[in-house]
Amino acid sequence: MATPARTYAESHAASLADPAAFWAAQARQLPWFREPQETLSQDDNGFDRWFRGGKLNTCYLALDYHVENGRAAQAALIYDSPVTNTKACYSYAELLDLTARFAGGLRDLGVLPGDRVIIYMPNVPEAVVAMLACARLGAVHSVVFGGFAPHELAVRIDDARPHVIIAASGGLESDKVVAYKPLLDAAIAQADYKPAHTVIFQRPFAPAALQPGRDVDYEELLKAPAAECVPVRATDPLYILYTSGTTGKPKGVIRDNGGHAVAMRYSLAAVYGLEPGEVIFAASDIGWAVGHSYIVYAPLITGCTTVLFEGKPVRTPDAGTFWRVAAEYGVSVIFTAPTAIRAIRKEDPEGRLVRDYDLSRLRYLFLAGERCDSATYDWAASSLGVPVIDHWWQTESGWPMLATLIGLDEMSPPRAGSAGHPVPGYDVQILDEAGQPVPVGTPGLVAVKLPLPPGCLPTLWQDDARFRRGYLDTFPGYYLSGDGGYQDADGYFFIMGRVDDVINVAGHRLSTGEMEELLAAHPAVAECAVLGIACDLRGQRPVGLVVLKDGQMIGEEQLEQELVSLIRNMIGAVASFRNALIVKRLPKTRSGKILRKTLRHLADGEEFTVPSTIDDPLILDEIRERLHERGVGLAFSRE
Ligand code: COA
Ligand code: AMP
Repeated sequence: MATPARTYAESHAASLADPAAFWAAQARQLPWFREPQETLSQDDNGFDRWFRGGKLNTCYLALDYHVENGRAAQAALIYDSPVTNTKACYSYAELLDLTARFAGGLRDLGVLPGDRVIIYMPNVPEAVVAMLACARLGAVHSVVFGGFAPHELAVRIDDARPHVIIAASGGLESDKVVAYKPLLDAAIAQADYKPAHTVIFQRPFAPAALQPGRDVDYEELLKAPAAECVPVRATDPLYILYTSGTTGKPKGVIRDNGGHAVAMRYSLAAVYGLEPGEVIFAASDIGWAVGHSYIVYAPLITGCTTVLFEGKPVRTPDAGTFWRVAAEYGVSVIFTAPTAIRAIRKEDPEGRLVRDYDLSRLRYLFLAGERCDSATYDWAASSLGVPVIDHWWQTESGWPMLATLIGLDEMSPPRAGSAGHPVPGYDVQILDEAGQPVPVGTPGLVAVKLPLPPGCLPTLWQDDARFRRGYLDTFPGYYLSGDGGYQDADGYFFIMGRVDDVINVAGHRLSTGEMEELLAAHPAVAECAVLGIACDLRGQRPVGLVVLKDGQMIGEEQLEQELVSLIRNMIGAVASFRNALIVKRLPKTRSGKILRKTLRHLADGEEFTVPSTIDDPLILDEIRERLHERGVGLAFSRE
């Protein structure tokens, strides 16, 4: 038998030369109920599918398997919540017991394999139990980030049509109580589809009244007899995770059971270099892809210990909180967003708080979710004294596409500003507008040659046409990521940011297209543009430029207040939409397309050439003047 590839170059080459053979070998690491018959095949739509014929259960892999194989007493989940002053540790046996009983409770509420269950909760163990319980039953969970407003939740309810919604009664944002139950009730009232039940996890600081007949107490479900794992097909969906696209309708990214499990197991070892038994602290939210993959599924499927943190990188209680967690639980790998490091650095520029803790077990800091500036990268590396790995992925992929693979040999070291090299399974290429590879050093569109490896989205929830249109049609044979970037002469990739109407605000992916739709619906607004401008703390933040309808007399201050509340109420405070400026006109091409990129460069103070297609270059001067007057944009900020 051939020796399995160990070096990065061998692994990557092997994964592209014969994807089926490469992933079949990885799949053999997992305990299937029935081995797959076809490693890679195509469905009736011509979409690639992994591990057809295989049967498994993701909850079994994450819990039962470890309990049966010597890890029953090992810590599976550590909950650390400085906001509620709570710490708890759940062994694999304890987490299994809770999950099996909760699954029994869900089954008693009528949840069947394939049914959808929405989970609207902050980072609490009960949310992880809910996710795993759905997996146990073969039900499809859809976790909705707790920071989203009722409108966003309602849109997801109508799309996923969940039999049950599981929610917490509230969350704590630093010391501010966010009552989730009224938000949930408002969302259900707004949605056309009504779930049969809601399950409410009561939190003492936000007690919620339950509606008889519909609402059930979370604790009640735990009284049910344990449910066994339901074998599902490898291609059956494990979860739907909605992510922002270019319009108000989010994209329902599907993750299937088989490909996902293989990708999780592979990536935790190859990308993050973690062995079973080690501790990972992914400082994200279970509402995001990072939370799904690296708080919940990859660590548990691998037999690691995962830290679930409910708090902020700062103010809970200080900028040393991540280091305290890492020291207290012997964390080997921390994963967070550059924004979090920027927030910490702002409060502790010298990195003094790092020195208060014993971080001798910490081996790596991984960063993703947005572009990492060199200053942040260098600060993290020098303060922590461990390698910092910037790596690139998306909700759609579910796991890294570019990285420095510390679990493989002979890997080039990480470089500030670069997200590294293609992960085995991904043939990442930079293409021009015509779909042709560009020369080294030339910026272009970041695409991945098909097939995508296991774990990536096979399609969008009940919208094959949008999947094809949004990702596959532009360049046949490629998945289009929506990011721009380039590759240097040494093979390092650099991701420069989105080329569409998606922005990343403090690691939260949001749609400026959706914000424009909302602003445009205001009675005073004739047309508008929402730009994602550079922000020192959040990476990007949205700013609205608004043209009034003829005859409108509303003042800028009042309009701004109304538009700020509109976005807060419809999307959520996380959008950080704080500025709306009235402008006389918007710069457009002669064919009527708003020149958003040019406006962004203007606000950020970056050099740009005025596009030759602009209908009237003087508009840019008018807008520059407005940004200057208001002190909006890094180029004009008076802070
Ligand atoms: N539920 C309800 N509201 C939320 C929320 C949640 N889960 N998360 C954020 N918000 C609210 C905040 O309270 C704030 O409200 P305010 O405008 O009334 O003050 C608003 O949304 C903006 O939040 P945020 O951008 O998070 O600002 P912040 O000052 O509270 O914190 C950071 C700034 C940088 C510390 C924080 O954004 C952060 O930790 N970012 C990293 C995010 C991350 O890890 N993403 C995952 C990618 S891997
Ligand atoms: P999300 O789907 O929320 O994970 O967001 C994915 C988007 O975040 C990508 O399309 C990129 O625009 C951005 N992103 C993620 N990781 C990185 C990174 N390491 N460098 C630059 N941008 C990143």
